[in-house]
Amino acid sequence: MTPSENTSHAYDKKTIALHWLGAFLVFALWAAGQSIDLLPRGLPKITLRSLHITFGVVFGLLMIYRIFWRKRGGTQLAPIDESLKSRLAQHFHVFLYVLMMLIFISGVVAVWYRGVNMFDLFRIPAFDADNKPMRRLLVEIHEWIANGLLFSALLHTCFAFWHHFKLKDGLLERMRSRNSPPQALEN
Ligand code: HEM
Ligand code: HEM
Repeated sequence: MTPSENTSHAYDKKTIALHWLGAFLVFALWAAGQSIDLLPRGLPKITLRSLHITFGVVFGLLMIYRIFWRKRGGTQLAPIDESLKSRLAQHFHVFLYVLMMLIFISGVVAVWYRGVNMFDLFRIPAFDADNKPMRRLLVEIHEWIANGLLFSALLHTCFAFWHHFKLKDGLLERMRSRNSPPQALEN
């Protein structure tokens, strides 16, 4: 299937659902990841870490599907205007996808290397449990990427709100599910 023609004012429902689910998981997984070390050793910490990993994997699989969908079936919209910043924003979306894939890969590598007790039910074996500096480095790399992703996502959010409240050009409407065509947009 080729991408849908650019005749619409909004993305299709699946693109919108994947966008908001992905956005929620980025913020929730960042907050959960940062909270793991605040908990004392024991079941609550094991459970939070296991939930982080489980939803992290769900996030990663959803992102792979989303990239596939955006390439093959999702509505493609041109930049909202012809300005350089709008064209840059489109490249920034690609950058967000790169970070989302990197956070997934770095998380999987960290789990594979250090091993994990999942929900106190089963254990993912460690590739090298004795190499503590390497284990720490891999989680640190994961954290740098997570912070980069959070910062970039917040920047993207600020731009979206700036368009909505200041420029009033209807950009946010593109990511809103609707049944009827949008009203004429003021400038
Ligand atoms: C409250 C937070 C957010 C708001 C208000 C928001 C708003 C928007 C809007 C209005 C667009 C359409 C832009 C256009 O058509 O030029 C968009 C696209 C996009 N957003 Fe967000 N966004 C938010 C959070 C996020 C997060 C956390 C991510 C991922 C890290 C993200 C990734 C993307 C991507 C990749 C696109 C391009 C369209 C696509 O491929 O789905 N957004 N966002
Ligand atoms: C949007 C996706 C994700 C975000 C934003 C995120 C964020 C974070 C953050 C902020 C930390 C804390 C790092 C530290 O304090 O040193 C963390 C830890 C961790 N993450 Fe993620 N992560 C994501 C996805 C994943 C995935 C997909 C996996 C594995 C499949 C994963 C596995 C881990 C592990 C094993 C830790 C270390 C936990 C501990 O301190 O015991 N993460 N993550």
